[in-house]
Amino acid sequence: MAYVAPSILAADFSKIEDEVLMMEGFGAQYIHLDVMDGTFVPNTTFGPELVERIHGIHHMVNDVHLMVADPVTNVIDFAKAGADILTVHYESFACEKDLDDCIDLIHMLGKKAGVSVKPNTNIEVLQPFWKKMDLCLVMSVEPGKGGQAYLDSADQKLSWAKKMNQKHPDHHVLIEVDGGINGVTGPIAVAAGAEILVAGSYLFGKVDAKERLEGLLAL
Ligand code: DX5
Ligand code: ZN
Repeated sequence: MAYVAPSILAADFSKIEDEVLMMEGFGAQYIHLDVMDGTFVPNTTFGPELVERIHGIHHMVNDVHLMVADPVTNVIDFAKAGADILTVHYESFACEKDLDDCIDLIHMLGKKAGVSVKPNTNIEVLQPFWKKMDLCLVMSVEPGKGGQAYLDSADQKLSWAKKMNQKHPDHHVLIEVDGGINGVTGPIAVAAGAEILVAGSYLFGKVDAKERLEGLLAL
């Protein structure tokens, strides 16, 4: 059984509350909130106000994915706004010490810490942080926009993360995959090691969204 995290990037923002509640009603356990700052990635999405507005209307885990050049400020702002998981990008930091400090900051704020790598980053860079990470987010598309095709290179990264969990039975890191997840790629990602499937364009705006989401949950 996989967990599903619908990404609101593909939702209709004019009725965002309804969209979020609909996914919860279909059985999603997480809601994936993509924050883009126009610098780390070309697009800009939303600020902490949006999370503040919706985090209290549902009971899913507020899974905030920070695609930003200034992770520290954003971690503080989104923690206050109601995030439960704060995922930062390895590539956002000037050095590993800064990433290490940011994970500590997330924990001091009482939140779960995720770390993500872009498709061209070797996932093994996460090894030194593994024992303090709560979640590992494998990007299966180049971050920045929804609707892209799943990159096969994610499979090997997911397998590496799964092996890391097997090597460290005392510390389980949730393995999440993000980008291009659908009825074909979802099973591939789960077989490789994914535990949480982020899905945006596969779910929102689809008449059969309930069946699609249930199909992913059953993996
Ligand atoms: C991409 C985002 C994803 C995106 C996934 O930068 O991090 O969460 O919403 O969208 P789909 O599921 O359409 O690939
Ligand atoms: Zn995302």
